[in-house]
Amino acid sequence: MQSSEQAKSLPFNDPAHWDKMVATYEAQSQPFTTHFADAAVATLPIGPSSKVLDIATGTGAAALAAARSGAEVTAIDFSAGMVARVRAHDVANIEARQMDGQALDLPDAAFDAAVSVFGVMLFPNWRAGLREMARVTRSGGTAAIAVWKSADGAAVHLLLAQIIRRLYPGNVTPMPCTGLAELADPGRLAAAVIAAGFSVPAVAEITHDFKLNVGNPGDVDKLFEFMPHWSGLDADQSAAVARAFRAEIERGRVGDIFAIPSTALIATARRL
Ligand SMILES: C[S@@+](CC[C@H](N)C(=O)[O-])C[C@H]1O[C@@H](n2cnc3c(N)ncnc32)[C@H](O)[C@@H]1O
Repeated sequence: MQSSEQAKSLPFNDPAHWDKMVATYEAQSQPFTTHFADAAVATLPIGPSSKVLDIATGTGAAALAAARSGAEVTAIDFSAGMVARVRAHDVANIEARQMDGQALDLPDAAFDAAVSVFGVMLFPNWRAGLREMARVTRSGGTAAIAVWKSADGAAVHLLLAQIIRRLYPGNVTPMPCTGLAELADPGRLAAAVIAAGFSVPAVAEITHDFKLNVGNPGDVDKLFEFMPHWSGLDADQSAAVARAFRAEIERGRVGDIFAIPSTALIATARRL
């Protein structure tokens, strides 16, 4: 189990952290985020003549979905490892580039559509991320932004926070991303999208299960690494939460799979 100092320095905003995560992310997270990426891209009116930008592409879930429409896709991420992984897909109509989503090295109005799936919400300056999304989208173009509906995020983060709230209400340390909390509400998400320069968005809510493989107990223990929610707990409390977490898994697992339903909000809006 990690110390509270490690938890506080959770490195969501460090590209090196994401560089190390590429293989794990592709194996465990992308199959889950792909459901939401496909839904976000499906809201965009795009086809073979469209230019589409995927901001914080990760291993490319939304870029790959957009590329299937025939669009010319630019996929950006600040992690060199993630960008290399998207390039390795070798999809002719995806160009992957390393850059910060808060200061895009791209011209104004260059894209017919822009998408960001669980990306902009993580930026320290998420408002700048949304403004940049608007700047590079042409007037009349469309943007889709997917965020979690809970300030605790999704999947294991969400389950752990629920357990801590139940056992030690008041001791849950918020996730270290202000955008995650601010945008986890349809009204606040819509207001932020409008403030960035878009029309009143349509906001859809969709839920999919994160399918946690619990076949190997050692892997379950590893899940407790990098969990910011630990930092408000002492050693006894952390041990009690870990026990409750394992008990919940034992009660709910179906074979080696424990499903954690996670809900996203997808806002789709037109650039004014
Ligand atoms: C939760 S993953 C989402 C990846 C992908 N969109 C998906 O849905 O699977 C977040 C991604 O945001 C990237 N990221 C975080 N901060 C960023 C920033 N300031 N600029 C660009 N990318 C960033 C990370 O490298 C990571 O690939």
